[in-house]
Amino acid sequence: MNTFRTRKSSSSRGVLVAGGAGFLGSNLCERLIADGERVICLDNMQTGTPENLASLAREPRFSLIEQDVCDPIPANLDVEAVFNLACAASPPRYQADPVHTMMTSVVGTRHLLDHCERHGARFMQASTSEIYGDPLEHPQREGYFGNVNPTGPRACYDEGKRAAETLCFDYLRGRGVDVRVARIFNTYGPRMRPDDGRIVSNLVCQALAGEPLTIYGNGEQTRSFCYVDDMIEGFVRLMRVDETPDGPVNLGNPGEFTINELADMVLDLVETTSRVVYEPLPKDDPQRRRPDISRAEAVLGWRPTTPIVEGLPPTIDWFASLVRPARETQHRSRALSAAVPGAA
Ligand SMILES: NC(=O)c1ccc[n+]([C@@H]2O[C@H](COP(=O)([O-])OP(=O)(O)OC[C@H]3O[C@@H](n4cnc5c(N)ncnc54)[C@H](O)[C@@H]3O)[C@@H](O)[C@H]2O)c1
Repeated sequence: MNTFRTRKSSSSRGVLVAGGAGFLGSNLCERLIADGERVICLDNMQTGTPENLASLAREPRFSLIEQDVCDPIPANLDVEAVFNLACAASPPRYQADPVHTMMTSVVGTRHLLDHCERHGARFMQASTSEIYGDPLEHPQREGYFGNVNPTGPRACYDEGKRAAETLCFDYLRGRGVDVRVARIFNTYGPRMRPDDGRIVSNLVCQALAGEPLTIYGNGEQTRSFCYVDDMIEGFVRLMRVDETPDGPVNLGNPGEFTINELADMVLDLVETTSRVVYEPLPKDDPQRRRPDISRAEAVLGWRPTTPIVEGLPPTIDWFASLVRPARETQHRSRALSAAVPGAA
């Protein structure tokens, strides 16, 4: 099935997913295989795992190259589309080697863009809402330039992703590479890592372990949470739409919750004795985050369809399967739906 129409399309050409062994990447690889594509995953296993790809191990249209994107991409890899998801997304993981994080976004993205230029392939960059920093505009539209600290501990990720976007649009303008940029907002779901330091995994794993749920600051900061299947649908639509979108496209769920509300939902869904504790806010932690997705709706006909009350139970099951048998986990989602009307 040849669904990424490019100037050199042929049925034998594949789709490269850099960072395909991670949380979003492995879900994307599965989706592309289900759609009939030939998929090559390139990953250095920094935060990804071969277990994430276990369902594809015997799939003849799937192959794995264990490699860092900072090293040159094998020149003979004939692909018609490249998804660049390579970059640790979890703050403790990307801050552990900040120089490598910055190089992954800059050098790695350049390698992949050069590869697309050589092969006439289409390119999608997994950018991030972090490029808006601690935003002074709300909700965030793509035209907002952001409020980012360029020298703080998160800068290796935030500024790396901003530089990668710059490269993307320079390759689009100057070298004719068909580039699409997804600005991804907080996404959750099965295959997140329990130790990734993000809010959904932190709260769910603490509740499952019967430990206090740690909230940084007063918990009134807001986030939007997009279920993984919705995000993958957004990636695929962004890559398949015929006309190159005019600029980056926000992908995320515009439903906005405070961290306190999220903690309450987790406590309602997991049978636990845990209670909430408050700790000081880390440096440069944004206060508000919510995507304006009107561009994605207009250009891709896309909007998320999974409310958080439907996305949290399979996510909790996933974490429960890692830490204790799933049957011990009890959900009370009906009670939660009643408690949070219109939750999405
Ligand atoms: N999950 C989210 O909520 C979210 C939000 C915004 C942006 N994103 C972006 O989406 C992409 C995927 O995120 P995720 O949540 O799946 O993270 P993840 O850490 O699970 O996946 C990243 C993958 O990239 C690989 N990788 C990292 N550095 C690499 C390198 N130098 N060379 C080759 N492979 C490398 C890792 O091993 C891993 O498999 C990332 O680029 C991230 O910045 C994710």
